[in-house]
Amino acid sequence: MKRTLVKAALASPTSLDAVLLQGWVRTRRDNKTFSFIELNDGSSLKSIQVIADAALPDYVQIEKVTTGASIAVRGKLVASKGAGQTWEVIAEAFTVIGEADATFPLQKKGHTLEFLREIAHLRPRSNLFGAVFRVRSRLAYAVHQFFQEKNFVYVHTPIITASDAEGAGDMFRVTTLDLAQPPKTEDGQIDATKDFFGRKTFLTVSGQLEAEIFAHALSNVYTFGPTFRAENSHTSRHAAEFWMIEPEVAFCDLQGDMDLAEEFVKYLIRDAQEHCAADLEFFSKFVDKDLLTRLSFVLERPFQRCSYTEAVEILEKSGRTWEHPVSWGTNLQAEHERFLTEEHFKCPVTVYNYPQAIKAFYMRQTDGCAPGRQTVAAMDLLVPGIGEIIGGSQREERLDFLQAGLALHHLSEKDYWWYLDLRRFGTVPHAGFGLGFERMLMFITGVANIRDVIPFARTPGTAEF
Ligand code: 4AD
Ligand code: MG
Repeated sequence: MKRTLVKAALASPTSLDAVLLQGWVRTRRDNKTFSFIELNDGSSLKSIQVIADAALPDYVQIEKVTTGASIAVRGKLVASKGAGQTWEVIAEAFTVIGEADATFPLQKKGHTLEFLREIAHLRPRSNLFGAVFRVRSRLAYAVHQFFQEKNFVYVHTPIITASDAEGAGDMFRVTTLDLAQPPKTEDGQIDATKDFFGRKTFLTVSGQLEAEIFAHALSNVYTFGPTFRAENSHTSRHAAEFWMIEPEVAFCDLQGDMDLAEEFVKYLIRDAQEHCAADLEFFSKFVDKDLLTRLSFVLERPFQRCSYTEAVEILEKSGRTWEHPVSWGTNLQAEHERFLTEEHFKCPVTVYNYPQAIKAFYMRQTDGCAPGRQTVAAMDLLVPGIGEIIGGSQREERLDFLQAGLALHHLSEKDYWWYLDLRRFGTVPHAGFGLGFERMLMFITGVANIRDVIPFARTPGTAEF
């Protein structure tokens, strides 16, 4: 007999004479002549209620039907008399497939998120994490749908790379050298030419530079994959391994880039509202009371846009004392970003045209800046509760300006020869951005810590699972 998922059973238009359900026991309650079993298989937030009559031959096993055990149930799907559920299953036969001993740590009572992180191998079986990972899966699908509908080509950019896209230097080294006895050069340095790839290699921080190559051939492309940053940040929004979506668009400027980013974020929110309604409702009940109103609010109006220079003026005039003092030329910190989006604009805001010195080498110099105030066509999308979820820019397409950008950031042209070649052979204005997938999930679910929206968090000091 074919298995029916709990989700399908609960959505059945009619009663059914025979269904086979397989899943894990959430709870069991015994009455004199029968037991109630809450069965969940992860297909929906809701479990299905199974009624097992004490007269069933299989009832001799009922003591093994404990929280966490896996079981298979055959029976009839009938209208439920209980409140809050449409259908329930009257068992005709059931088998205990895998018992769960009494140390099974997930019990009906709530657990703290910290505790659940320590049992990341079991937390997907909780309501909260089932919901988070269903939404994550749906949104990954929606990402592809959004770009595929727009004729973007999906490019698999490499995970191991020799170049530092962000020039920030916080990369994980990839090596097969014997760390206890690495080969040395004559001047005592580790000899990278003896390493696996014959050079120094790292885990990528971004697929952007390679995506740019493909945008110069296929016009509109995107990459969606894991990225790695070895920053020692202990915050609720930084992970050492996270997933990033990076579109790259040929013949596009900063305006077009900001428009695409806004359309994309709204598309993902709408998709979640449409396809993950029950899970979002759960988050709004147990995680963040304002979630649903906030998401609708965000969809209803255009995002605000403000230049970096205006943003600094707003911050200076705010009368706040900042932990990190702010003036033209300083980088915006989380406290500044949160003030702009949460208190000043009270909605998502895209800040654009940042000082050249604080942004990456590849960003396009803005024409006609005041002396000493050279900016680049960068943009960051800031949202309430999180701050930056998107970072992007128009790229420098002019060879001489790009060479100057490399020099300004003390990077060598030799290391970026192929990137410079794109400006030698059929260069075009182009732009793109990176959306941190986990930050977007935090925004859509209201879950406040990045460790709780990724299956297995990689943060400084933790890589257990
Ligand atoms: O602003 P970032 O560093 O931009 C880039 O990497 C560009 N190459 C993107 C592009 O233009 N193609 O990172 C982009 C986004 C951030 O806005 C943030 O959402 C996320 O990636 N991000 C992180 N998410 C979790 N943990 C971290 N350590 C992150 N660092 C960046
Ligand atoms: Mg950024």
